[in-house]
Amino acid sequence: MREFSRSRHGAGSTIVLVPTMGALHEGHLALARAAKEYGDIVIVSIFVNHTQFGPEEDFSAYPRTLEKDCLKLEKEDLAAVVFAPSQEEMYPDGEPKTWITVNRLSDHLCGISRPGHFRGVATVVVKLFTICQPDVAIFGLKDAQQFYVIRKLTADLNLGVEVIGVQTVRETDGLALSSRNQYLTKEERGQAPILYRAVSNAKELVESGIREGERIREQMLSDIQEANLGRLDYAEVVGSADFYPVEILESGSTVIAAVAVYFGSARLIDNQIIRVP
Ligand code: PAF
Repeated sequence: MREFSRSRHGAGSTIVLVPTMGALHEGHLALARAAKEYGDIVIVSIFVNHTQFGPEEDFSAYPRTLEKDCLKLEKEDLAAVVFAPSQEEMYPDGEPKTWITVNRLSDHLCGISRPGHFRGVATVVVKLFTICQPDVAIFGLKDAQQFYVIRKLTADLNLGVEVIGVQTVRETDGLALSSRNQYLTKEERGQAPILYRAVSNAKELVESGIREGERIREQMLSDIQEANLGRLDYAEVVGSADFYPVEILESGSTVIAAVAVYFGSARLIDNQIIRVP
């Protein structure tokens, strides 16, 4: 993989990496389409990374559909290369001894409900960057906290990769596309757009002049209560610098209204990134 990237760099090409865990849906394809605008050669990596899953999480059940994924990419000529390493190639010693930890940004929200998750993400992303040697890397903004964690580690470690976020792709009723939506029953699927409604209402409140983080949070909580099949994980308004809750929203700052809700075994997340007027 590295030889390929070096030779393309040598020929003057710009390389764009789209890291994924496969089970590609329209959201991933939107990332690959965006990638084409940022460089000459698009690499899509497909690797279900065990180090970012907790012991009780869905690592073994996570959908693995490599052939179908390749066909989807091929159909639109979206990738020059699919990099799909094996578990042994990525982690020859099993559990890595070297970890990348991004303090503070990883502590709250998904950092609480998924201990060790961001350490696993950060570590595999650095490995993918050093293997694939991209100039640009593309991530979905549905995982806003992940995006900010990766952008921070890339800057802190001077990795020289431009990290680009791409807007969330949604179903017509607002539900953010996710590989985990396939775990939902029909009834749960019917209620799942509540996440989008909650974060959209939060955005509207900010735009209408509300500045108390707690007031916005209460609205999100009451929205989510409408879904009786959902079980709240979190609903918060956090600052983009550290992903900690914001008491009073400062004009000109960027905040994220973020929610996570369990529907049965599926844990869904959504957010709105809001520039405070
Ligand atoms: O967003 C994902 O699919 C994963 O967290 C990533 C960035 C590919 C790392 O495994």
